[in-house]
Amino acid sequence: MKILCSLSTCFSPSFQDQTTHQGRESEATFRIFTHSELKSATRSFDSSNKIGEGGFGTVYKGRLRDGTFVAVKVLSIELDSLRGEKEFVAELGTLGDIKHQNLVTLRGCCVEGAHRYLVYEYMENNSLHRYFLGSQEGRMRFSWESRREVAIGVARGLAYLHEEIKPHVVHRDIKARNILLDQNLRPKVSDFGLAKLLRDDKSYVSTQVAGTLGYLAPEYASSGKVTRKSDVYSYGILLLQIVSGLPVVDPYQDKQRFLVEKAWAAYEAGDLTKMVDAELNEESVAEEEESIRFLKVGLLCTQETAKLRPRMSEVVEMLSNKIEMLNVSISKPGLVPDLRAIRTRNAPHSEVSTSSAAAHASSIWSSSNLAR
Ligand SMILES: Nc1ncnc2c1ncn2[C@@H]1O[C@H](COP(=O)(O)OP(=O)(O)O)[C@@H](O)[C@H]1O
Ligand SMILES: [Mg+2]
Repeated sequence: MKILCSLSTCFSPSFQDQTTHQGRESEATFRIFTHSELKSATRSFDSSNKIGEGGFGTVYKGRLRDGTFVAVKVLSIELDSLRGEKEFVAELGTLGDIKHQNLVTLRGCCVEGAHRYLVYEYMENNSLHRYFLGSQEGRMRFSWESRREVAIGVARGLAYLHEEIKPHVVHRDIKARNILLDQNLRPKVSDFGLAKLLRDDKSYVSTQVAGTLGYLAPEYASSGKVTRKSDVYSYGILLLQIVSGLPVVDPYQDKQRFLVEKAWAAYEAGDLTKMVDAELNEESVAEEEESIRFLKVGLLCTQETAKLRPRMSEVVEMLSNKIEMLNVSISKPGLVPDLRAIRTRNAPHSEVSTSSAAAHASSIWSSSNLAR
């Protein structure tokens, strides 16, 4: 794709004139950064400032001239899959205007020739994945109190995206790596709307998103149709992960490799207690009851039939104990068992492709598969 004009000639003054207000960084408006500004903030993208690597590129910690810290994401997406420069910045600007205490603020971007950078507020404690759920030896103790705060905070952030802003935003890539933690370990959801913006035209589900198998709603994988209820599915998986401390997919198991399979089997056996993280053994009876309730909400969110899943605002209410959960009935969850179940644009109208995806998605629940 050819970039037709430079930033200075392309954009309306409103984008360029917006500057941050000193001392009010959380309210800072989205703005365009220059390449040299980002270069000096990250000390020429020095490897010592590298804080992560994701599907869309590398992330560096940076310090702006006003002293505030930022996370600079250097996009490594092929230009083919990016839109025009002006449209790209305009869409990012819309995402940058979204402010909520449980959402990571996008502070701005930079387009320099073929290179594109996203500038986010910096989150001190990295991600939920790295801080609480990573390898046994590296992770911090995840108390029930913190789990509750993370689960409810993330649900609030998503309820805001889904139900309070217009047009609503579907996140599309909810996973533990996209839940970041600030200096007080408060959770903030990052990368909302990004999967749509950086979509890969060759497939309905971008390869980056497909990489996070286990969080992917079955209808998203099989039809490419993404709705708020697909986010609810991914949130449900995340919730099961927060309570159990288990990985979403365990490749070393040949039975019940997926967390959701395990949780459903435990639910059917009337023994959800065994899904609660062993690290929480010393918690009180009230907290154990609460953790079972959270697991049930997780299963409600992952039901195969998307319309039976609750809305995110209902999830917030259920987790906060404002909605009675005792007599709620839960139907079986959906699952995307492997990458073959993901429909690609190469076979856009192929019934075979769609139905085989559906078959894959449901076959995992057949008795033979569960008994395997
Ligand atoms: N705003 C941020 N503050 C601190 N660390 C971040 C921030 N954004 C991303 N990171 C770190 O960089 C890693 C890579 O991020 P990203 O490119 O979004 O890929 P992914 O979401 O697949 O992990 C994250 O897992 C996280 O560890
Ligand atoms: Mg991310």
